[in-house]
Amino acid sequence: MADNDKPVDPHIDPADPDNRISLERRAADSEHAAKIAGEIPERRQPDAPAAPRLRKPARGGLVKEIGSTGHEWDGITEYDNPMPRWWLWTFYATIVWSIGYMIAYPAIPLVDRATKGFLGTDYRQEVAAEIERFDQANAAIQTRLAEVDLDAIPNDPDLVNYATNAGGAIYRTWCAQCHGSGAGGARGYPNLLDNDWLWGGTLEDIHLTLQHGIRDPQDPDTRYSQMPAFGTDGILDRPQIARVVNYVLSLSEQPHDAALAAEGAQVYADNCAACHMEDGSGDRSQGAPNLADAITLYGDDYATLTRIVTEGPYGVMPAWNTRLSEAEIRAVATYLHGLGGGE
Ligand code: HEC
Ligand code: HEC
Repeated sequence: MADNDKPVDPHIDPADPDNRISLERRAADSEHAAKIAGEIPERRQPDAPAAPRLRKPARGGLVKEIGSTGHEWDGITEYDNPMPRWWLWTFYATIVWSIGYMIAYPAIPLVDRATKGFLGTDYRQEVAAEIERFDQANAAIQTRLAEVDLDAIPNDPDLVNYATNAGGAIYRTWCAQCHGSGAGGARGYPNLLDNDWLWGGTLEDIHLTLQHGIRDPQDPDTRYSQMPAFGTDGILDRPQIARVVNYVLSLSEQPHDAALAAEGAQVYADNCAACHMEDGSGDRSQGAPNLADAITLYGDDYATLTRIVTEGPYGVMPAWNTRLSEAEIRAVATYLHGLGGGE
């Protein structure tokens, strides 16, 4: 837009006699305004009170005035005090120390390792040397543990002592995730403290379980058995499953429908007794749990039992001989055997 398009302000032209009066009035107005401004003190922001100045005795009996930094939060202002000297020097000293440390020791991370440091310290080597030292110190007893007859271990206090300590550490590293830190187990993961064993609780049984695992598809010698999925595979229909579940509940003396349970006895004898035995006491050679006691692996409520019988359980534990040495397996087996349930 060109300048001459703008509407002309009639007050601009002083030559115009019509404008003179208004120009005079404006001058008088501003003079008045200046006068008022001088008389009325400038108003403070209500939320910004001035910081009271702190008077503080200084050296030589003088009084020092401490100003404010001008920082203010919700009416709280900050005095501009210097840092205490001891603090400041300690701070500088830490900076100097850190530079020295960085030069002397490994400090700055690079792509695959840290800077070396002129003292040549290498923590990885230190750890490796420590491990080596312990391995050497334990080499003799580990060899003995791996080579003696399994039955001989419990009669050798040195071996038991070593195996229990080493086995506890191995247990916490490799087993606690599934069996619980106290070996108390969880749903689907057996309790290893009690004397209720799926596959047997002698040192030899535990040792074999650990070496080859349970249903480990990688290990041809693994402990193996498979309960059929009676419902999914159409071996039993729903009413038959309801009957046999009631019968299983009756075995462990839990609330059940007596009429259904009586009918379930025959279903049980035909389909389950081969593995879980006539009286429900189970069969360790097949890892088939005792159904007549109060201890269960998966749970003993009606819904869980129905699911187990319908779908079939399939608990898997990996073989440990691919991960642990023979001495380590024996150590943890001895540790478990000593936990209370060992036979
Ligand atoms: C990935 C989970 C898992 C880990 C890890 C694991 N277990 Fe197991 N373990 C199982 C399961 C599941 C069973 C039960 C399998 C079954 O249903 O028969 C089992 C069974 C056992 C049994 C047989 C118990 C019995 O009643 O006969 C022993 C003994 C055992 N585990 C010891 C160990 C030890 C020792 C370790 C560590 C070295 C370990 N387990 C690590 C899952 C695991
Ligand atoms: C071929 C052998 C076999 C047959 C037949 C069999 N079972 Fe099992 N049963 C097992 C095994 C082995 C387990 C443990 C499986 C696991 O831990 O994964 C088991 C587990 C169970 C459990 C879980 C126990 C617990 O402690 O949680 C129940 C319940 C059960 N069976 C009921 C039955 C019933 C009812 C029948 C008959 C309809 C039956 N089983 C037939 C082998 C068998």
